[in-house]
Amino acid sequence: MNQVYVNELKNHIGEEVTLKGWLYNSRSSGKLLFLLVRDGTGIVQCVVFKPNNESLFETAKSLGQESSIIVRGKVREDARSPIGVELEVTDLEVIQNVEGYPITPKEHGTEFLMDHRHLWIRSRRQHAILRIRHTVVKATRDFLDNRGFILADAPIFTPNACEGTTTLFEVNYFDHDKAYLTQSGQLYNEATAAAFGRSYCFGPVFRAERSKTRRHLTEFWMVEPEMAYATLDDVMNLAEEMVCYVVERVLEERRDDLKTLERDVSKLERIKAPFPRIHYDEAVKILQDGYEKGALENKFEWGGDFGAPDETYLSSQFELPVFVHHFPASIKAFYFERDKERPELALGADLLAPEGYGEIVGGGQRAFDLEFLEKQIAEHNLPREAFEWYLDLRRYGSVPHAGFGMGIERCVAWICGIEHVRETIPFPRMLYRLRP
Ligand code: 4AD
Ligand code: MG
Repeated sequence: MNQVYVNELKNHIGEEVTLKGWLYNSRSSGKLLFLLVRDGTGIVQCVVFKPNNESLFETAKSLGQESSIIVRGKVREDARSPIGVELEVTDLEVIQNVEGYPITPKEHGTEFLMDHRHLWIRSRRQHAILRIRHTVVKATRDFLDNRGFILADAPIFTPNACEGTTTLFEVNYFDHDKAYLTQSGQLYNEATAAAFGRSYCFGPVFRAERSKTRRHLTEFWMVEPEMAYATLDDVMNLAEEMVCYVVERVLEERRDDLKTLERDVSKLERIKAPFPRIHYDEAVKILQDGYEKGALENKFEWGGDFGAPDETYLSSQFELPVFVHHFPASIKAFYFERDKERPELALGADLLAPEGYGEIVGGGQRAFDLEFLEKQIAEHNLPREAFEWYLDLRRYGSVPHAGFGMGIERCVAWICGIEHVRETIPFPRMLYRLRP
């Protein structure tokens, strides 16, 4: 049995092949039955002609949506088909005839679909999104690997916070007091960057955020490169290059999927370096200006952190992703290096995606000095013992170093042009969702 996948069928025109898959949908018209069969690589129309084999026709006609089937047939060229071919069925083996598949071609509400996420991922649109995710992840890894970054993953159980104590998930850890699910691998990256020069981690991170927005998950994937002997500018340069590379790869490899999602690809084709870089002071001016114009409900004050409407407004001023840098240190994590001239500012940068997708990258230059960090840890009320190993990095060969984190789901949501991050991960975890 020469099993062929749907996406290879066009190389088998005129041959008799075997497809193994599931019934996506079917319709009949008189003596003809059209089965749409999917196998994970695509969907092909399979035609059954009643006079050729009546019992096969009846069997095929009785199949419910998502029945698992093995189809044998001849591959025919077909100009009207989106994949250029169809299959003339000669034989059919039913593995399971399914009745009452919950997700029908009619419209369903989001909650219903989310409850059936384990089945929903079989549908065309979800397929397109998750395939694009695959490419985003692969391209990100290729980008860093090709630049000599060593993958050195960080632990998920950690003894301390990285991004502030308010969003920590706590777990019991044997006889130790408590462990926390990591919010970011950054602190460990700082150790691996001192070991390898350039390193990255790529894994799930956790935020106990009580935010119910279209940008927040409680478990998401982050890629975090870190570089020794590097500055804030190096962070912006690398992030810019990486984002351009990822978008380019998706445009190269996932045109069909972007089309399925009806993505306006011209907006992605524009994504080319250099991206605008604006100082926090300037961002504040833009936001206050937006308030004067009535485009923003609340007046933004210097010193504040951007809310979703602020990010959306800022990014709407640019066609490209935009960096905002030099945030007030008071709204940032403990580990940021400070601006020499204006020590109230942190050497950090966020990259805001266009079209209102918000922050996709956050990072910056790390504090270099032992004493300064000790003070920061105390001021942020962090448990000193848990950070001793981290402080060693400032005791033994401290260098200026910098890095960033890119949230995969936000990046995928932007590239796909979809409303909510919940569709960009196979099984999303959110404030009100732990199942399936
Ligand atoms: O800005 P964040 O919190 O930065 C850090 O964690 C740094 N320690 C990273 C580093 O420098 N190595 O998070 C980085 C990115 C954000 O820009 C955003 O894309 C994503 O992670 N992100 C989220 N994505 C989905 N749901 C959430 N709740 C997210 N919180 C952050
Ligand atoms: Mg951030």
